[in-house]
Amino acid sequence: PLKCKIGPSILNSDLSMLYEESQKLLDNGADYLHLDVMDGNFVPNLTFGHPVVKCLRNKLRKAFFETHMMVAEPEKWIEGMADANVNLYTFHIEPVMDEVISLCRKVKEAGMQVGLALKPGTGIEAVRQYIEHADIILIMTVEPGFGGQQFMSDMMPKVQWLRHNYPNLDIEVDGGVGLNTINACAEAGANMIVSGTAIIKSVDQKAVIASLRETVES
Ligand code: DX5
Ligand code: ZN
Repeated sequence: PLKCKIGPSILNSDLSMLYEESQKLLDNGADYLHLDVMDGNFVPNLTFGHPVVKCLRNKLRKAFFETHMMVAEPEKWIEGMADANVNLYTFHIEPVMDEVISLCRKVKEAGMQVGLALKPGTGIEAVRQYIEHADIILIMTVEPGFGGQQFMSDMMPKVQWLRHNYPNLDIEVDGGVGLNTINACAEAGANMIVSGTAIIKSVDQKAVIASLRETVES
């Protein structure tokens, strides 16, 4: 079986203490950090970019960083994120449909793994032809832009289809995933679990991360 990983999203943490919050998540059992990058254009919200990610990298040299690029021009930030030693560069295919293959190549040439993300309204057929070029596929289970939204269980058929056709693919889910919704994700076949508010707002992060992991591994 594929190894399951839990990647907390720091979006709803106290961003004035990004390093402390990230270190705490790693100490509490996070397998990787899911860093939500928003440009105020692809999504109606802003977070941070590669300069901040690079500062975080200087303090957390070993952690696995995924940047979830909710941006209209993913090509623009490849170099900066590679320079920040990002491990996995996950971008949305919607604004760059005709360039997905060349972008995948550029991300890999820059030394990062590449992920392809789908908004809830984007059907699986849109990514089908690109799967072989990607290291992971991210199925969004909320509309990207904000943490703390409600999980969309009707996205699970996409995960099921991917798992059925690609038994070895890393499949990530993101949005509204917590103790009540992770079961559906695990059953559908997701093996990379992003969870934001469910972890950040809990009183016992370590316990929540452990039970998330238990569900997805059982
Ligand atoms: C949404 C982000 C998610 C989000 C997850 O735009 O991509 O990573 O922060 O947070 P929760 O788990 O609270 O939905
Ligand atoms: Zn995200």
